[in-house]
Amino acid sequence: MSDHKSKPDFLSLLDLQPVQLEALIERARAMKADRRGVRPFVGRTLAMIFTKASTRTRVSFEVAMAQLGGHALFLSPDDTQLGRGEPIEDTARVIGRMCDGVMIRNDSHADQQTFAAHSQAPVINGLSDLLHPCQLLADVLTIVEHKGKIDGLTVAWIGDGNNVCHSFAHAAKQFGFNLRVAAPVGYAPDAAVVDAAGAAVELADSANAACDGADVVVTDVWASMGQEAEQATRQEDFAGYQVDAAMMAKAKPEALFMHCLPAHRGEEVTTDVIDGPQSVVWDEAENRLHAQKALLELLLK
Ligand code: CP
Ligand code: NVA
Repeated sequence: MSDHKSKPDFLSLLDLQPVQLEALIERARAMKADRRGVRPFVGRTLAMIFTKASTRTRVSFEVAMAQLGGHALFLSPDDTQLGRGEPIEDTARVIGRMCDGVMIRNDSHADQQTFAAHSQAPVINGLSDLLHPCQLLADVLTIVEHKGKIDGLTVAWIGDGNNVCHSFAHAAKQFGFNLRVAAPVGYAPDAAVVDAAGAAVELADSANAACDGADVVVTDVWASMGQEAEQATRQEDFAGYQVDAAMMAKAKPEALFMHCLPAHRGEEVTTDVIDGPQSVVWDEAENRLHAQKALLELLLK
């Protein structure tokens, strides 16, 4: 049962209306152009709970809070009572009373929902087993910067139907683009997520079919965090799903290549593609900062 129904959370892209998301992307572009221009968060704090590793998410949220004039606290289960079994509900009540926002990266979307239900401060999903919505704010910003728009474009997702793929499906519905997913048998995205996205998402028969005439080609690691034991099996199962120059050639000549990072060169993508002229992965990574500053401004204002 929720203690706090009225405050905004961002556990999913579906938590915001399309008009709010579009305004957020525009605001992120303005904040990128004037990155030290506003400091509305003097004296404000963001708690960041990480039960999994991170480079981009941690650095971008911490830098975002600093640039906005506030402070971010890095909390790991090893250093908090969460790691010793204090209930999520109690932790949420306490942190939510002291901090102005909470960002969580963990392996249980259900636990994030429980936390959000008991925190009086807004909760942001910094990656769960189900979704990675902050990544998609940066990805949409990157596509808009390079293509001038996102609505009506075709994005090909090649590989695992994982958390990032699920947030791509939500983004397709919210921002009005077409997502074609090519995943090996047994690795399709969650059917409920695909159904919720409606006509915006299509399951392709092959990686080449998904890439055919696409504006953007995206992939992610074959084994996500927590799936390391499946690495060898997945490497066999994902044969034919490596994004290489021949696959990129099926897409439009000016198509972008994207990857949330970290990447495994020689597995899900070849070196010539990720380090080549169509790749926008460094803009994509930097845009985590700008998109999340706009998100924090919206949620913590
Ligand atoms: N893309 C992304 O979330 O990167 P990190 O795991 O480094 O945070
Ligand atoms: N799908 C990857 C994304 C990492 C940013 C994972 O969950 O590990």
